[in-house]
This record gives sequence, C-alpha cells and structure tokens, in this order.
Amino acid sequence: MSRVLVTRQLPERGLDPIVAAGHEIVAFPGDVPLTPDELATAVRDVDAVVCLLTDRIDRGVIAAGTRDGSRLRVVATVSVGYDNVDVIAAAEAGVVVCNTPGVLDETTADLAWALILSSARVTSTAESDLRGGRWPGWGIGQYLGHDVHGAGLGVVGWGRIGQAVARRAAGFDMTVIHHARRRTGAPGYMPDLDHLLAAADIVSLHVPLGPQTHHLIDERRLRLMKPTAVLINTSRGPVVDERALAAALRSGALFAAGLDVYEREPAVHPDLLAAPRTVLLPHIGSATVGTRTAMARLAAHSVVTVLAGGTPPNAVRRPAG
Ligand code: DGY
Repeated sequence: MSRVLVTRQLPERGLDPIVAAGHEIVAFPGDVPLTPDELATAVRDVDAVVCLLTDRIDRGVIAAGTRDGSRLRVVATVSVGYDNVDVIAAAEAGVVVCNTPGVLDETTADLAWALILSSARVTSTAESDLRGGRWPGWGIGQYLGHDVHGAGLGVVGWGRIGQAVARRAAGFDMTVIHHARRRTGAPGYMPDLDHLLAAADIVSLHVPLGPQTHHLIDERRLRLMKPTAVLINTSRGPVVDERALAAALRSGALFAAGLDVYEREPAVHPDLLAAPRTVLLPHIGSATVGTRTAMARLAAHSVVTVLAGGTPPNAVRRPAG
C-alpha cells in the first residue's frame, strides 16, 4: 500500500481510483493552498501527490520528497496547465509529473465563448449599470458592441482547447485563423503571430505558460490589434501584460477584453479592475461538476498507474513553453 497526499479538497468520488487500488489517502483538511513549507513537510512521507494549480511544486518540494530515504514517485496536478510544477526538477529526481489533458477541452471552450460573446457585446458593463440603478431607460446609442457573427476569429495556440473554440465559430459564420509555433497543416494557419493579431476581430489565447509565452501579448503586440478588437484569455494570466492591456482598453486602442486568468491570482491588477469594457471571471474555465470530477479522476488514475509501475499517457514529457 502506498501513501498519496491530496493537497486540497477534490470533487466527490474524484479519488475513487486511488481508494479502489488500496492506497492510503493523506488528505489536508480545508480548501486553501498549502504554503511551500507545509508542502515540503507533507511530501516527505508519501509516494504520490495529487495537487491543484494553486500548489507550487518547486525544486525544494521535489527535493524534500526524494531526499534521505523519502520516496515520492509521482505528482499529478488536477489541471491541464502544469506551470505550477517544476518539471525539470521532477525529471532530474525521477518523479513522474502528470496533468489532465483532454477532459476539459469542451468545457473550457464553452467558457471562452461565454467571454467572446459577453465582451464583444459589453454585457458586464450593461448589467452592472442596470443593477447599480444607472440605466436611464433604452437609448439607441447605449452599450454598443461589435458583431460576433461574421467576424474574424484568431486562435493563438492550436491544441485541443484552441481547436474546440475554433469549431464553435462555424455556428457564427466566422472566418477562423490560427497561430502556433509549429506549422499545423490546418486551414487558416498563420506562421506570424503579429499578422494574426493585426487581422483578427476577436483573439483567443490557448497557449501553455512558459518562458516563451510570458507576456506574449505585450504593449507592442496590443498596438497591432484593431481598435475594434476583443482579446480573450482563458489560458494563464502571465501570457498577457495586464498593465499594458488595461492601458490599451483605457486609451481605446483595444475595444474589449474577456479574462478568466490573471498574472497574480487571486489578485487582479487594479488597472484592470478600473479598465472599461472588460469581463473578468475568477478562473472558472473548467468549472462544471462533470469536468472537475473527470479531471480529479484522471489525476487519480495516473497516480495508480505510476504506483503500479506504468507510465500513463498523460505523463508530461517536456517543460511547457
Ligand atoms: C487548467 O486545467 O489548467 C485550468 O486552468 C483549470 O482547469
């Protein structure tokens, strides 16, 4: 029997595969991220960790789990993004890292579309005025947005989620272009991100966070976008320079933004909170009962596979970026 540390609350039944395999679960009570010290202490006496994107599994935590007779073998993060885990340190220590690809694509794409529609049609501003008693009654020039149907959608990152977002555009009669670092072979591929940004009416970001994508959308690139354009980010906050984005919205260089992720979660840059025409959600891209349960179960299955001596297909093989 192995010991599996579970750092935070997970959906009911999410850990069933671990229980069914006869392993012991060491669960932290409560639902707050562990501090680095708590993590480093907790990993000393376990074979596996099931963590969330709010846990930083850095080199120190990996070292604590593997030095002096400690026996950590696998870290499974219940997220598709794995920028919270130092995968290089893990590989060096022989610890397998797993993420949860595939089970959240459609759910996250749905949310990206919620942001596309609400940002282009400024629904957050309109609703907040109504709720705040600031709506004086119907007026022909109020809350004017831009049409989504027939617009040009630019998808940045052509993984499963980016493609799921693109598929939905057919129903809105949109033209879809996309950018990825490697040629995709799919129609609408644009090798130059700058050209995509200049051409698209709606830009949706679906890249992993790594050194090459940190501030991928910066002040210079924001300036390339149309003043009528909308920027959507459901990937990771640091992919966008929030301060530059807020300035672009303030000056009217960019029409609107729909964000689900932030550079320093749970903090949101005060300039963004004050910026006009934004829809700001608290990182809920995959937040449905079914999807969050599927994510937890996939992480749990991965742990069971590694502890049995196997390699799950969702073992991370190289750093994001
Ligand atoms: C992920 O999985 O990486 C999302 O950000 C949370 O579902």
